[in-house]
Amino acid sequence: MLISAGIHYPRATPNMWPDLIAKSKEGGADVIQTYVFWSGHEPQRGQYNFEGRYDLVKFVKLVGASGLYLHLRIGPYVCAEWNFGGFPVWLRDIPGIVFRTDNEPFKEEMKRFVKKIVDVMREESLFSWQGGPIIMLQIENEYGNIEDSYGQKGKDYVKWAAKMAVGLGAGVPWVMCQQTDAPEYIIDACNGYYCDGFKPNSNKKPVLWTENWDGWYTTWGGRLPHRPVEDLAFAVARFYQRGGSFQNYYMFFGGTNFGRTSGGPNYVTSYDYDAPIDEYGLLSQPKWGHLKELHAAIKLCEPALVAAESAQYIKLGSMQEAHVYRGGNTSICSAFLANIDEHKSSTVQFLGQSYTLPPWSVSILPDCKTSVFNTAKVGTQTSIKVVDFEATSSAESSGPEHLMIQKQVPLVSESWMALKEPIGVWGGDNFTVQGILEHLNVTKDQTDYLWYITRVYVSDEDIAHWKENTITPLLKIDSMRDVVHIFINGQLIGSAKGDWVEVVQQVQLKQGYNDLMLFSETVGLQNYGAFIEKDGAGFKGNITLTGFKNGDVNLTYSPWTYQVGLKGEFQKLYATDSDESSDWTNLTHDEVPSILSWYKTYFDSPGGKDPVVLDMSSMGKGQAWVNGHHIGRYWTLVAPQDGCQETCDYRGAYNSDKCQTNCGKPTQIWYHVPRSWLNPSDNLLVLFEETGGNPFEISVKTVSVGTVCAHVSEDYYPPVETWSHLNRETEPIMELQCEDGYIIASIEFASYGTPQGTCQVFSVGNCHAPTSSSVLSKACEGKNSCKIEVSNSVFGDPCPRTVKTLAVEAKCEPLSSSWYAGLSEM
Ligand code: GAL
Repeated sequence: MLISAGIHYPRATPNMWPDLIAKSKEGGADVIQTYVFWSGHEPQRGQYNFEGRYDLVKFVKLVGASGLYLHLRIGPYVCAEWNFGGFPVWLRDIPGIVFRTDNEPFKEEMKRFVKKIVDVMREESLFSWQGGPIIMLQIENEYGNIEDSYGQKGKDYVKWAAKMAVGLGAGVPWVMCQQTDAPEYIIDACNGYYCDGFKPNSNKKPVLWTENWDGWYTTWGGRLPHRPVEDLAFAVARFYQRGGSFQNYYMFFGGTNFGRTSGGPNYVTSYDYDAPIDEYGLLSQPKWGHLKELHAAIKLCEPALVAAESAQYIKLGSMQEAHVYRGGNTSICSAFLANIDEHKSSTVQFLGQSYTLPPWSVSILPDCKTSVFNTAKVGTQTSIKVVDFEATSSAESSGPEHLMIQKQVPLVSESWMALKEPIGVWGGDNFTVQGILEHLNVTKDQTDYLWYITRVYVSDEDIAHWKENTITPLLKIDSMRDVVHIFINGQLIGSAKGDWVEVVQQVQLKQGYNDLMLFSETVGLQNYGAFIEKDGAGFKGNITLTGFKNGDVNLTYSPWTYQVGLKGEFQKLYATDSDESSDWTNLTHDEVPSILSWYKTYFDSPGGKDPVVLDMSSMGKGQAWVNGHHIGRYWTLVAPQDGCQETCDYRGAYNSDKCQTNCGKPTQIWYHVPRSWLNPSDNLLVLFEETGGNPFEISVKTVSVGTVCAHVSEDYYPPVETWSHLNRETEPIMELQCEDGYIIASIEFASYGTPQGTCQVFSVGNCHAPTSSSVLSKACEGKNSCKIEVSNSVFGDPCPRTVKTLAVEAKCEPLSSSWYAGLSEM
């Protein structure tokens, strides 16, 4: 029985890996699961890259060294919201290639790469039979979803891929997910929000859940997904209840799509995924902690689960059921009691005892008697993160005035340099051909950007015709993706975005020759679906100008001049060793906003160890680099006003539209700058801004847990890890913990009795123990973490015969600054 945590190594830096792995292990994971990212490992055909964030061997060794197993999903198609689904874009250019089907050129390339990875792993002795952590591999990814599009060739491809993979001699099992026709020697596995009841295509195969989507990904201009942990825990408990043996959280840590690695259409730079470990590597609470308890409870049942041939099924009610696992001739017995009613709680009788099950929940009974955990009862703390200027700054400041100034000026810099990107042709390598070329055929995805430039002649008669009939000519593009900015005679006249959408734009033309320039952009290449190699980018169909005297002017077959990329990209303006003689000028406040501009400045790192972000909310759309590291695309697109519920009800089947947040706000404003990319001072920040923004307002901030809250009832379970057959009398415990290097500086709220509300809006109810605050302060203040028994013996009984709860809100502060504050009071 295995619990697995999905972490994609290139979505973090090697410096972050040990902590992410450790936090997964502490959260109860036995296995780390990752895809292998072909496009990162073979950026040019035959030139392999296993360095930095792509140091797969190092990642696998770290997993092994921490005592965890590894599930390596080689793909090499991976989907994963990764650019082009993980395929290197050069693969499109192999003559005669059709991806993911019975096609010789494709199979040859796929085999070469998969073999390369297996060989590297074997040479480094990383398979389990060699003493390494790799216990399982994966070939392809959810091919079953699109197999029909390829007819018989699709079926043949599945057989070929399976045989090819197994033939590489890795010596560990191979998995195919969402592949009902997987051959007998490959394990077919389930992906989804729920996989209980999933049956592999043979009863000789174990029941694997390769992707449990514990959140979801985000698009520019979209809301933020949130999957409540009560539902997630329910799904996991149901899976093991009904005979599952391996479950992986997709993602346990989502991380960041650095550079131009994010897929499409239109996926944002953050890949936080609402995962138990957030984008920056901080715990997302209560998700992480509640799952940790769940894992501990499931592990208590493991002896019975693995000993029993199968579960005994007992119907407890119309929507309530038990699965009982008994070890053959031993006395071990474990049970799961489920209430799948989405609305009502239910009291059921089980083996002579009565149990109350909240709606949409599972209770876990490791001894078939004691319920040690229920998926819907969350006792773990909630953490509220603050994104602010350097939290430790108060430690270094000389007094309150200084502190005030710091609070008002968290700007990354007050002095900026600027440089204009040329509009249109800038370099000698432009070329002119008849007709509209497909965007990726020209850029090879070496850049997001491609200029399409043509000339249109407007006669006196056209002008007169427009005046007489009050016509404004229209530019019509049949189909376009992902973004286009339209320029006439050097002026930006309009923009459009979308995934193969029609564009209609009014244009003002002058008599004589007019330059029409289309600035075409990709924002992450398609990563899902059949035939992604044929999808391409840029424009499809016709480009026409309507309303001319002699009818429409079809520009589709006109001569077009192509200019790939930006001059600034070509000059590597973002590099730390970039040529200082470039024409940078000092930026003044009245020069902003402006389009197609490069900006640069230098900034000092915030002190301390907290994760660092740039707040880019003052900017439009573009890309950013810190010390030459591409931190990703940014885009301040705002999510729709509607579609977020006031309260998130965990009950009932989850989908990614449920419980969304961030309505009416920009989808992403914070951009992660990993600590290992920063120097203490003089960090070079370079931006390319397309649509116009104000760099003077960019700020550098740190992310930390500012507030922790918990709400635990006196009839809650004692901590799962303290449970044993011998000792069942322990009281429930409330635990509060700040991040490393932080202490609980103050108790903002504490009430043992009948407190109301949720974190940050708690209030005292009718019943309240006057001792609440003093008990909490004494036990917690000045400490990194504290534990309090939730019982009358600690607080006194403020209202006999009432079930009491303890609600607490505490403030976390960096150790150094509180220490400083303490000093100044003396
Ligand atoms: C799955 C796919 C994953 C990922 C996920 C959504 O279908 O296998 O790679 O794309 O969807 O996050």
